[in-house]
Amino acid sequence: MNILVTGGLGFIGSHTVVSLYERGHQAVIIDDYSNASKEVLEKLETLIQSKIPFIEGNVTDSKLVENIFKNHQIDGVLHFAAFKAVGESVEKPIMYYENNLNATLTVAKLALEHKVKKFVFSSSCTVYGDQPSPFHEEMDLLPATNPYGATKQMSEQILKDISFAHPEFKVTLLRYFNPIGAHDSGLIGESPLGVPNNLMPYILDVALGKRPHLNVYGSDYPTLDGSGVRDYIHVMDLAEAHVAALEKSLKPVNIYNVGTGQGSSVLEVVKAFETMNDVKIPLNITARRPGDIAVSFADPAKIKNELGYQTKRDLNQMVKDAWNFAKRSNHA
Ligand code: WQD
Repeated sequence: MNILVTGGLGFIGSHTVVSLYERGHQAVIIDDYSNASKEVLEKLETLIQSKIPFIEGNVTDSKLVENIFKNHQIDGVLHFAAFKAVGESVEKPIMYYENNLNATLTVAKLALEHKVKKFVFSSSCTVYGDQPSPFHEEMDLLPATNPYGATKQMSEQILKDISFAHPEFKVTLLRYFNPIGAHDSGLIGESPLGVPNNLMPYILDVALGKRPHLNVYGSDYPTLDGSGVRDYIHVMDLAEAHVAALEKSLKPVNIYNVGTGQGSSVLEVVKAFETMNDVKIPLNITARRPGDIAVSFADPAKIKNELGYQTKRDLNQMVKDAWNFAKRSNHA
């Protein structure tokens, strides 16, 4: 299949492009470099040993996106392109609603007009809100606590409504848990700009000596060691879920959690990182971060039963691959 990948130079998008080629598919990438560096395309082409059609621009530009559908035979869409910083979304709600919702609307509308039958959307476990884990796809979604989360819930609804009206337009909503790690080549990975918000990029900065310690947000959660528990998933496992969804999804609307089903605490992630990589991560145990929940992990049964998809890589592999990428890209 020839797949349009929006946001294909970002962390999850770029790894998914590799998975597509590994499975014999091809990609057309559109990305506006808003959260990706220019070198990623070259690195992808080195990894897959082939040129990848690339369009620079924002997916809310309907003329630009329309031309992509006109100029390429597109069999499916993987729609990653979105802003994703929770805190920034609270400060700049208009920017988040405008970009993320227009992006979903523009790409879906044009995909439908061009008779594309498969559309996979990057959703998030954040749509479940603060309720007990494991999260099941059938649970009611609680109101989002920030505009970023609201754009994911609203985009899910928009896509469900489109598929309801046009059942030939098969929509798959993938609710990601916490992706970390990197491709084992170390060529591509996650490199956020500025001070990292998320746990693994922050650990990597500490390991590289760019920051003195990791702030551990909370030591009094009702968890085994008091720190927050999340379902970390290797980004290549997450990438492979997209390919499985493209190859097998059949119903008009398909909703799947993509996680391992296994929760790990912040302190467990740090321990695994230190042990696997022989690097010390100094800690500063501090107050809870506003908006965080204690525990979040997936019930991954549905995607296994319906698509035969299962994660393959454990936490040790995730922390090892993350460090391998960070060392290579920072020449440490
Ligand atoms: C993981 C754990 C923190 C940083 C967020 C979004 C979600 C998704 C992924 C988008 C928590 C703790 C973190 C640090 C810490 N969206 N932590 N010190 O909050 O589960 O999910 O990112 O891209 O929608 O909400 O991920 O990596 O920020 O935090 O102790 O410096 O690590 O409190 O327990 P989170 P995270």
